[in-house]
Amino acid sequence: MPIKKIGVVGGGIMGSGIAQVASSAGYDVILNDIDDRYLDRAFTAISDSLERMVKKEKITPDDKKNIIGRINRSTRLEDFSDADFVVEAVIEDKDLKNDIFTRLDGICPEEVILASNTSSISITSLAGVTSRSDKVIGMHFINPVPVMKLIEIIKGLDTSDETTDTVFELARIMGKAPVMAEDFPGFVSNRVLQVMINEGIYCLYEGVGTREAIDDIMKMCANHPMGPLELADLIGLDTVLNVLNVIYEGYGNPKYYPCPLLKKYVDAGFLGRKTGRGFYEYT
Ligand code: 3HC
Repeated sequence: MPIKKIGVVGGGIMGSGIAQVASSAGYDVILNDIDDRYLDRAFTAISDSLERMVKKEKITPDDKKNIIGRINRSTRLEDFSDADFVVEAVIEDKDLKNDIFTRLDGICPEEVILASNTSSISITSLAGVTSRSDKVIGMHFINPVPVMKLIEIIKGLDTSDETTDTVFELARIMGKAPVMAEDFPGFVSNRVLQVMINEGIYCLYEGVGTREAIDDIMKMCANHPMGPLELADLIGLDTVLNVLNVIYEGYGNPKYYPCPLLKKYVDAGFLGRKTGRGFYEYT
């Protein structure tokens, strides 16, 4: 079945980015969130991102208008009944994702592929709550979605080759580079990245360096565009904590234990760029 309309569940940083790249690739998009407030914020983020591209003359103002025009708002999952492909991109909460996959399974026609942008949660377990485990797959986009090339593709235990091929093709049409990883906690990207971020936070916690020193050292040592603390602020400290918890619980290995300082920041509501304060302050 040709894919024409893509549903995106969740209008946060990742969901809005996915809606933007899907629409930029010419697909009709339904962007869903629980409240109009979140959709307003998502459309502002999409408009700002596209405006950067207009200023750099990568797209025209008309392209921007058309890309935004192809994205439809939705606050009801039932609106996905005519979507040809769905990507879920809500917060890293297993119960919430299970609930969404159960509902999508009842709403979407049986041939529709249900993908998850989960950073770390088992695709096999999400597939297990549906009656189409061969059509459930991980499609892990990277933040900021409009810029980052990679999509980590995760096959669940029962995901079919046909589903995998379709998702590889879709990723390429979106201008991305799909790479396969196996379904283990954190997959490859987050298992490696979040451990580095956690160690950066431990360095701050134990006084090994200031926030600036830790970030400067890692930027110049490893030639990374951002240091671990800046990157944690970009990702969102709540997401970093959730992902580390999934990896820690998944392997039961203390090396993944989230730093107490990270927990303290999350408890304080200092979640990074999105709240204006994380390891750094943003105006
Ligand atoms: N939308 C559109 N374009 C954007 C953008 C956005 N949101 N953000 C940046 N850009 C564009 C800029 O316009 C610029 O374009 P140009 O090359 O034509 O000039 C280019 O990207 C570079 O941006 P800037 O010049 O503003 O700034 P930087 O050079 O510092 O790049 C960055 C910004 C791309 C964010 C870079 O710092 C970077 O790559 N950081 C690391 C990101 C990273 O590691 N992400 C992984 C997060 S982990 C994850 O997502 C997994 C999840 O599961 C937790």
